[in-house]
Amino acid sequence: MRIPSLTRTSGKRRDASGPAVSAGAGGTGYGDRFIDAVAKHRYQQQTNGFLSARSAPGHTGAPVDFLFAARSDPKLPDEVFGMLQWGGLFVYVDTDQTRATRIAQDYDGKRGFILETQPTRLWLSRLGLRLPGLAPRAFYFAARKVGLIQPGQFTERFTYQVELMPTKGTEFGYAVCKQVPTHADVSYRLRQRFPDLPDDEIETRTHKLVDSVFPMFLTREAAILKILQTQMPKPYDQLVPKVLGVQKDEQGFVRRLAMNWLRTGGPRLTQLEFARQSAQLLTVLHEQAQVMHLDLRLDNFVLTPRGVGFVDFGSSARIGEDLAQSPMLTSLFGEMMRTSKIQRMLGRMLDKGQVTNQSFTCVHRKADKAIDTFYLAVQINKPTHNPQFSHLVEYDPHSDQAQAVSSLTAAVLRPKDQANPQFRSAKDILRGIDRIHRRLNTD
Ligand SMILES: Nc1ncnc2c1ncn2[C@@H]1O[C@H](COP(=O)(O)OP(=O)(O)O)[C@@H](O)[C@H]1O
Ligand SMILES: [Mg+2]
Repeated sequence: MRIPSLTRTSGKRRDASGPAVSAGAGGTGYGDRFIDAVAKHRYQQQTNGFLSARSAPGHTGAPVDFLFAARSDPKLPDEVFGMLQWGGLFVYVDTDQTRATRIAQDYDGKRGFILETQPTRLWLSRLGLRLPGLAPRAFYFAARKVGLIQPGQFTERFTYQVELMPTKGTEFGYAVCKQVPTHADVSYRLRQRFPDLPDDEIETRTHKLVDSVFPMFLTREAAILKILQTQMPKPYDQLVPKVLGVQKDEQGFVRRLAMNWLRTGGPRLTQLEFARQSAQLLTVLHEQAQVMHLDLRLDNFVLTPRGVGFVDFGSSARIGEDLAQSPMLTSLFGEMMRTSKIQRMLGRMLDKGQVTNQSFTCVHRKADKAIDTFYLAVQINKPTHNPQFSHLVEYDPHSDQAQAVSSLTAAVLRPKDQANPQFRSAKDILRGIDRIHRRLNTD
């Protein structure tokens, strides 16, 4: 997802005194005071530990979890969408009830938002008192960004329809709902990608994807997540999604999967800590859960207050699973392993001689856990390539850490002894990271 430029304040993290949102250029006297009042009285608790900002044009920064706006600030769904993290809350304050209500309607189940708090009256506190009738009055509403992209936007990246859904009894009041896309969505995307295909071919492919391929992979994902919940030891079980419910079609295939939301947040990690946690989680996934992810791109990583997590087990398989058992699985995994981004990158790097480790050269185009290990080595070397959490990983290419990790990546991909590489598994990489950690601490 491309992140448009952000606001002037990027806010504070873990600010016990409340969100850092007030004032700045463009603020209107009352606007500032109302924003402060609503931030303090309504959202102080929730904003703790998350990024807050005041909406304003012309500034770039990390997308925030809470965005506050008054009348003179950017306030329309399309203007604020890119300033917010997925699941972020937009709070608007205005002295004019009619205007607040009109703007709130633009967020009510539209443009990737849902209206979480209807326009509500607020009395501005004077000397700590909020006296109805005596104090100035304003109206605020709050809208949650539940869509990953806005309706009408096109991206190749998201195959499924993934959005947040209000759900009682969950940690943040929301669950992630991943569902098979509609026929209309899929045929639109196919048309964009293959403009020369005849209509009947688009139709056939759409049916195949919507009626069998997507449901089959979603069914596999739900099954793998259930395996993870029994096989991942604590606390690692919290770093992968838990199934909250599934909806199946008449043939028993999952069309809708609800899981818990591994919400972005928490303290910033050093590059080495990010690498360590990622390698540790992958080691546990491979060695204890006996599952390979097979699509371990940074957009399938999440950075949460509990640490680095992995999502999207849609292309995963059990280690040792006989994929040849079913002709359909054989053909789909075969295709995925020819066309996936990771496999294509491996192919290019092999051609250029950038990967010589035989543990990886021999899995080109194959579904094998070494594919995860290969990509882990690549990712820890550029951990800020996911805009959703780039602000949460410290990365300075000139730092000792970055240079040490870069040497590690090189040693993993191109070992001195190609036939007998020192690094073959996630656990080997973890050991390498621990050695860097000890060396840098000693230095
Ligand atoms: N349980 C989850 N918790 C937090 N974020 C999630 C979760 N599931 C999905 N996401 C977010 O949604 C995006 C798309 O979901 P994903 O399962 O990767 O779908 P797709 O298979 O279409 O790539 C992910 O890249 C991630 O940012
Ligand atoms: Mg994904």
